[in-house]
Amino acid sequence: MRKMKFAPTLVAAAVSTVLLAGCNAQASKQEAATMAPVGKAMLAKSEQAAFAPLAPLGPPPQAADNLTTPDKAELGKLLFFDPRVGGDASTGCSTCHEPEQGWAWAEDFSRGYPGTVHWRNSQTIINSAYYPRLFWAGSASSLEKQAKSAATGGVAGNGESDIMEARLALIPEYRKRFKDVFGDEWPLIENVWRAIAAYETTLVQRDTPLDKYLQGDKAALSAEQVRGKALFEGKAGCIQCHNGAMASDMDYHNIGVPANKRWEEDGLAQITFRYEQYAKGQTEEGYRTAKSDWGFYYRSKNKWDKGKFRTPSLRYTAHTAPYMHNGILYTLEDVVEFYNRGGFDEEGRTTQFAENKSKLIKPLGLTDQEKADLVAFLESFSGDPITTEKPALPEYAPLFTRAELEAAQEAK
Ligand code: HEC
Ligand code: HEC
Repeated sequence: MRKMKFAPTLVAAAVSTVLLAGCNAQASKQEAATMAPVGKAMLAKSEQAAFAPLAPLGPPPQAADNLTTPDKAELGKLLFFDPRVGGDASTGCSTCHEPEQGWAWAEDFSRGYPGTVHWRNSQTIINSAYYPRLFWAGSASSLEKQAKSAATGGVAGNGESDIMEARLALIPEYRKRFKDVFGDEWPLIENVWRAIAAYETTLVQRDTPLDKYLQGDKAALSAEQVRGKALFEGKAGCIQCHNGAMASDMDYHNIGVPANKRWEEDGLAQITFRYEQYAKGQTEEGYRTAKSDWGFYYRSKNKWDKGKFRTPSLRYTAHTAPYMHNGILYTLEDVVEFYNRGGFDEEGRTTQFAENKSKLIKPLGLTDQEKADLVAFLESFSGDPITTEKPALPEYAPLFTRAELEAAQEAK
C-alpha cells in the first residue's frame, strides 16, 4: 500500500493539522476504541490532546511518488473532463463532479452510470487532496486509488481498465502527453489515475473569509459570523468534530442522519441500494433487512460502526448542497436545525442505528438569532465558486491508415 507523503516544502501547520486532526479528546470510549487505523495509531495522543483549533489551510499534501507538475495536472484535467475514461464513453469524472454544481452533483443522490442512480450524495472534489481517506466512509486511501475506484465502480464510471487504456491509445494527443509526462509508449491506466490525482491537487480553496480572518484580517468576518464562530466553538459544539484546517477530525461518527426515503420509494435507487449491500460484503441477513446506509461498518464489520461516516470538511459547502451522505438536508439552515434538534429531521426521524449515535449530538437550544449566526459563520468556510474552462477534448485517429496497412501487407 502506498503511503501519502508530504512534500518537504509544506508548512508545519498544514502537516500537523492534517495528520493530527483525528485526535478528538471528546470522543466517547467506544468511538475511540473503534477508530480507523489512522485514529488508532494516535489514540494515546488523542487522550491527552484537545482537538486541533480551526486553522488556515496550508498547501495541499502530495503523494511522494506522484508529485504534481503543471504538465501532469493539465493532462489530468483533460482526463477528468473526458467521458472516454468510463464504461461506454458517456460518464466521466466531471459528469458527477460538475464545476457549476460545486464540483459535485446538486441532488440528494448523485446521478449514476446510465440506467442507474447512485446511492450516495456526490462529494465535491475541491480540497479532496487534504483527506487522508476518501469517500463518505473513507474506503479509499489515496486520490489515485479513489480515481480508479470511481472510474470502474458499477454505478459510477463502470469502465473496464483495458478498454479505457485501448481507447486512450487511439488518441494521438494522449499518446504524446503520456509520453511527455510519464515516458509511456502507450497511455497506462495507472498513470491515468496519477494524472487525475495531480489535477485534483490543484483544485484547492484556501483564501476563504475564514482563512483571512484566521490569518489576522479581523474585517474578513461580519459581526454575525464572529458570533457564529463563538457558537461553533462553544454552545453548539461543532468544533468537537469539525476541527483543524479542514474542519474535519478525519474520524467516523454516527450523527443521526436518517435513511433517505428514496431507497424505499424509487425503484432504481432500491436496485442500487441492494446492489451496494451485496457488493460491500453484507451478511445475508443484513442484505435482506438493511434500510439505510451502514457506512463505516462495511469496512470494519463492527456493529458499533453502523451509520458512521467520515466527518466532512465544511470548506466549500456554500456551493455543495444538498448535504450528508444521502443528501437529505437541502440547505445549511436545514443542517443547523437538524443539529439543534439533536440529530433528528423535521419529522423527528433519526438514524436506524440510534444505539451508535454519538453522545456529542444532543439538543442545542439555540435561539433563532444564534441559528442565523451559525449559518452565517458556516458560509465563511467558502469563497467564491471555483470555475474553469472545460477543455476541448482531443480526437481519435486510427493508429494507421488503410494505405499504410496495405503497403505493410505488400511488403511482407
Ligand atoms: C456516476 C457519478 C460519479 C462519477 C462518474 C464519478 N464520481 Fe466521484 N463521487 C461520486 C459519489 C456519489 C461520491 C461519494 C461516493 C461514496 O462515498 O461512496 C464520489 C466521491 C468522490 C471523491 C471523494 C471526495 C471526498 O471528500 O472523499 C472524489 C475525490 C471523487 N469522487 C473523484 C472522482 C473522479 C476522479 C472521478 C473520475 C475518475 C469520479 N469521481 C467519477 C460520484 C461520481
Ligand atoms: C460528533 C461529530 C460531529 C459534530 C459534533 C458535528 N458534526 Fe457536522 N458532521 C459530522 C459527520 C460525521 C457528518 C456526515 C454525516 C453523514 O453524512 O451521515 C457531518 C456533516 C455535516 C455537514 C454536511 C457537510 C456535507 O458536505 O454534506 C455540515 C454542514 C455540518 N456537519 C455542520 C455541523 C455543524 C454546524 C455542527 C454544530 C452544530 C456540527 N456539524 C457538529 C460530524 C459532526
